[in-house]
Amino acid sequence: MPGTFDRSRGRALTREVSPLYAEAVSSYFNTRTPDYEAARGSQEAYFAALRAHGTEVVTLPALEGFPDCSFTEDTAVILDDRAVIPNLGHPSRDGEQDSIADFLADDFEIARMPRGATLDGGDVVFYDDRFLVGLSTRTNREGADFLAEHAKDSGVGVQLFDVPASTLHLTTVCSSPRPGTMVAAEGHLTEADLSFAEEVIWIPEEEGYAANTIAYGDRVIMADGYKRARELFLDAGFSVTSVEMEEFREVDASLTCLSVFIG
Ligand code: GLY
Repeated sequence: MPGTFDRSRGRALTREVSPLYAEAVSSYFNTRTPDYEAARGSQEAYFAALRAHGTEVVTLPALEGFPDCSFTEDTAVILDDRAVIPNLGHPSRDGEQDSIADFLADDFEIARMPRGATLDGGDVVFYDDRFLVGLSTRTNREGADFLAEHAKDSGVGVQLFDVPASTLHLTTVCSSPRPGTMVAAEGHLTEADLSFAEEVIWIPEEEGYAANTIAYGDRVIMADGYKRARELFLDAGFSVTSVEMEEFREVDASLTCLSVFIG
């Protein structure tokens, strides 16, 4: 069935936090210098949460010279047996994808984006029969079109969104935890944006960071410390695991940024 591959979470490709983490790109949430040791601790908790849900976590060493290298979601989009490898949209991050492509080449056909086209995997949300693709400061139309071409071969459509200036990536403000369902942050997306969804769990704007989730059936992993969002997930029939994410939030990163699911 087209698209089922994207909800299977057998294997996650991740990367250690960079020792240069204090220099990670940070444009939205930054209130202080990010802390490498604290980020490493949170990353371990994140890995444990994935493993507890049955995911095999594959972790590559930190990539020299790339402070944001632990955000592997941005470096590949998996479509069945093909990996679309983008040009990342921020100059300090472009290049992270090369060693990811090398790693994936054993198991996937690699489709490299042409020069000039850019896309961050963080602008791609899988929903049932389609990818929601955000056009943003990182993802341009050429990048979205390149992904759409390859998605079509796998029977998956693409629906474009304009990512609001209030946020970095599409995944920063929404996710799809189960078929038919979207979780979205109020104040960033509108009911009209998500009119295709059977159910939308709206997270109040002040807790909007919690709209980024990783789900396994009716079990959801969310960022720790968002009480109202937690209640909303429980009311919607999910059981909840929380991971402390403050150190990643400082650099505009969310739960999904820390992995790309490859099986
Ligand atoms: N710090 C994550 C990003 O800007 O891509």
